[in-house]
Amino acid sequence: MSDAPHSHTAPIEQPAERIAELRSRPRRTVLAVPGSSVKMIDKAKGLPVDEVFLDLEDAVAGPAKAEARENVVDALRSGGFVAQTVVVRVNAWDTEYTVADVSEVVGRAGNGIDALLLPKVRTAAEVVALDLVLTQVEKAAGLPAGHIGIEPQIEDALGLTNINEIATASPRVLTLVFGPADFMASIGMRTLTVGEQPEGYAPGDAYHHVLMSILVAARAHGLQAIDGPFLKVRDEEGFRRAAARTAALGFDGKWVLHPAQVDAGNEVFSPRQEEFDKAEGILEAYTHSTSVEGGARGAVMFGDEMLDEASRKMALVVSARGRAAGM
Ligand code: GLV
Ligand code: MG
Repeated sequence: MSDAPHSHTAPIEQPAERIAELRSRPRRTVLAVPGSSVKMIDKAKGLPVDEVFLDLEDAVAGPAKAEARENVVDALRSGGFVAQTVVVRVNAWDTEYTVADVSEVVGRAGNGIDALLLPKVRTAAEVVALDLVLTQVEKAAGLPAGHIGIEPQIEDALGLTNINEIATASPRVLTLVFGPADFMASIGMRTLTVGEQPEGYAPGDAYHHVLMSILVAARAHGLQAIDGPFLKVRDEEGFRRAAARTAALGFDGKWVLHPAQVDAGNEVFSPRQEEFDKAEGILEAYTHSTSVEGGARGAVMFGDEMLDEASRKMALVVSARGRAAGM
C-alpha cells in the first residue's frame, strides 16, 4: 500500500463537467453592478440574486476603467457574495480595454470568477478570441484550464444574424444575453425608454422577434437565455410586466439594476406554487402509469386533461426550475 498524498483527495474537475454545472445554475436575477462604485459593489454582495456581474463596460467611464479593475479585483478576492454565480463584464473588442481587462481581472482574481460577460458580440470570432486569451491568462495564472465560462451579449443586428455561430463558438459559452439598449440603438427603434414598448407599435411586442431568436438559439445549443435591463428602476409594475413577458416565453432570467427589482425578478422567474404543484402531480401520474403499463408511456389522464410525453417534458422543466428556486 502506498502512502497517498493527503493533498490529492479532491478529484480535479474536468472543464466539461464544470461548464455543464455552470450552465445549469439558476439565473432568475442577474444583478448589474458598476465596477467603479465600491459602495454599490459592497451592497451587491448582500443581495439575494442568482448571478451578479461586476461591470467594466458601459457603466464605467473611460478614465475610470483602470480604477474599476482594481475595485473588481479587490471585491473578487474578498468574496462574500450571496449570489451563487459571480461574473465580470469586460469591454467589447472594438475598444482598447478587452485584453487588459482579462489579464488584470482574471490574472489576479480568477479564482473568484465563474464567467466573463462579453458585450456587443457581433461574430463568432469575438468569442473565439476571448476563449484564446482566457486560456493563456488561466495558464499564466496557474488556474485550472477552461473553468471560466463566457456569456455573450447580443446587442445589434449583426450579432443577432450570427447568433447560432456565436452560441457554438466555444465550449465555454453558458448563456445568450439580450442587450436591449444597444440593440434598440443599433436598429433605430423609435424609443428612448429601454424595456418599454415603443410608442406607436402597441398592441404587439416590438421585441418578440429578437427575444424568440435568442431563446431558440440558446435552447438549440443547450444554453440559458437571459433578458436584459429595464431602466425605469422605480417602476416596479413596469419591471414586472416586462419580466413576465420573457418569463412566459421561457427565458431563464433577467437583469436587475436596483434592489427594488430583485424580489420581483426572483418571483417572476420562479414557477408559481400552483404551477410547481401541478408539474409534480403530472410527473407523479406518469410514474404511476409507467409502473402500471410495465414501462410503456402513452397518454394518461390528469384530472380532465389528456397528457402525453411532451406534457411530461414540460412538467420536468417547471419542476427543475421550482427546485432550483428552493421549492
Ligand atoms: C445592455 O448592455 C444593453 O445594452 O441593454
Ligand atoms: Mg449594452
